[in-house]
Amino acid sequence: MGPSEEELRARLERVGQAHLLRFWAELEPAQRDSLRQTLVQLDARELGEHCKLAAEACAREQGGSGQGRLDGNLEPIPAQFLGGVSRSDAATLERWEEEGLRQISQDKVAMLLLAGGQGTRLGVPYPKGMYDVGLPSHKTLYQIQAERIRKVEQLAGRRFGTQCAIPWYIMTSEFTLGPTEKFFQEHNYFNLKKSNVVMFEQRMLPAVTFDGKAILEEKGKLAMAPDGNGGLYRALVDNKILEDMDRRGIRYIHVYCVDNILVKMADPVFIGFCVSKGADCGAKVVEKAYPTEPVGVVCRVDGICQVVEYSEITLETAQMRNPDGRLTYSSGNICNHFFTLGFLQEIAEKFEPQLKHHVAIKKVPFVDEKGNLVKPLKPNGIKLEKFVFDVFQFSKNFVAFEVPREDEFSPLKNADTANKDTPTTTRQALLFQHYRWAVKAGATFVEANGQRIPEKYSLSEDEESPVVCEISPLVSYFGEGLDAYLKAKILQSPFLLDEDVEKFIAQHE
Ligand code: UTP
Repeated sequence: MGPSEEELRARLERVGQAHLLRFWAELEPAQRDSLRQTLVQLDARELGEHCKLAAEACAREQGGSGQGRLDGNLEPIPAQFLGGVSRSDAATLERWEEEGLRQISQDKVAMLLLAGGQGTRLGVPYPKGMYDVGLPSHKTLYQIQAERIRKVEQLAGRRFGTQCAIPWYIMTSEFTLGPTEKFFQEHNYFNLKKSNVVMFEQRMLPAVTFDGKAILEEKGKLAMAPDGNGGLYRALVDNKILEDMDRRGIRYIHVYCVDNILVKMADPVFIGFCVSKGADCGAKVVEKAYPTEPVGVVCRVDGICQVVEYSEITLETAQMRNPDGRLTYSSGNICNHFFTLGFLQEIAEKFEPQLKHHVAIKKVPFVDEKGNLVKPLKPNGIKLEKFVFDVFQFSKNFVAFEVPREDEFSPLKNADTANKDTPTTTRQALLFQHYRWAVKAGATFVEANGQRIPEKYSLSEDEESPVVCEISPLVSYFGEGLDAYLKAKILQSPFLLDEDVEKFIAQHE
């Protein structure tokens, strides 16, 4: 039953939030029950503190300029803790890959997907992972990721003669859990074992006005938003995920965002690198494209690793270069991390409460005092979020690993009306990568009239891949093993090498 209206009202009045009951008299019994339940769960005192914190954090952020705040205390990640594809020779990279595959073959590696975001910039009414960017196969991001897991399991199993599995933990939120579960069921978990796909939900927090009032999005419903991808650490505890990992013998966890179409799932090279260095925490990075690119930079502040936002340093610092011409602060964070289970346990048990809240100012639809629904044209609400990378500071042995952007990073953030990180740019990134793999394996592409299409190995910003070429992850994880099918083959665009390779071989004999 819960507290009476009077009791609820008294509790909310004490913390300046009684407006949440403004429409109580108009609510149906079911709506009243639901609002009562939300308010009891949130706890009036905690709600009051949350609203106060949000308004104060927002005022602080808007008041003070962050620019230059960290310049004096900054240093790049020292070379001994920074590895990378272009910084190492082939034999070393192979050694790391072997180590990563060994760990996978022994069932010690899990993937953890952050998929609780609302994807407001992309603007589709379903989870981003269900998006089809328009590849010839029309595979969604979830399917591509699932198939990469299956392939790398197969590669590790074959190399070390085991039957292995990489459990896939998927953090969702109130917005994404239902549709994601349904989607996976409808697609038979993309032929992964259902028991190896573990979905769990992160918490939600109320959105707050600039003067510290929780917002009603309906007469009987608070506007809530997921607590950021750093909500991971509380969600791991809430859902006993670390215990589940421990039970399965998992030791290393590869964490990533749903929207990077090029993500190397359970990347053996990255995992092998981190394990060989004895790291408890690692970040994959790409070289920053230009000094003012709006990406966070992995570096040290007062000797402690963290991600520094572009807004926290001056232009002068952002533009600094080393004698070799590379930017001094060039390690762009791509939300792709390695954690040991022990490190995550320590964060969950000890450090999570210390993670700071970041302020996101958003347009939050609300009901006005008369009960009309308003879709604001200007941002009106504060959402507090924690960030997954804010735990770097607690690492005892942090490493970073730089990878080529064109091979490993192309995020889907915006709709096609934008000019960056869109369905078109992500589709093109994947098609061009697969084209490069095909050419490297010995294929030649020709026009319909038989004329050879000249090879290209890099593209300028607005250029498209010279051909449409897609290779199923079930055939090749990262370009390996393709000569068997493509060597000396003459191909035409659009070209799709799907999992039915027997058919392809028969057709091209
Ligand atoms: P983004 O910061 O790109 O946010 O998330 P978003 O919610 O997907 O998109 P916008 O900003 O509303 O357009 C980066 C990654 O973190 C996850 C997202 O699902 C994405 O994989 N995320 C974000 C969460 O898991 N939970 C959150 O609360 C926020």
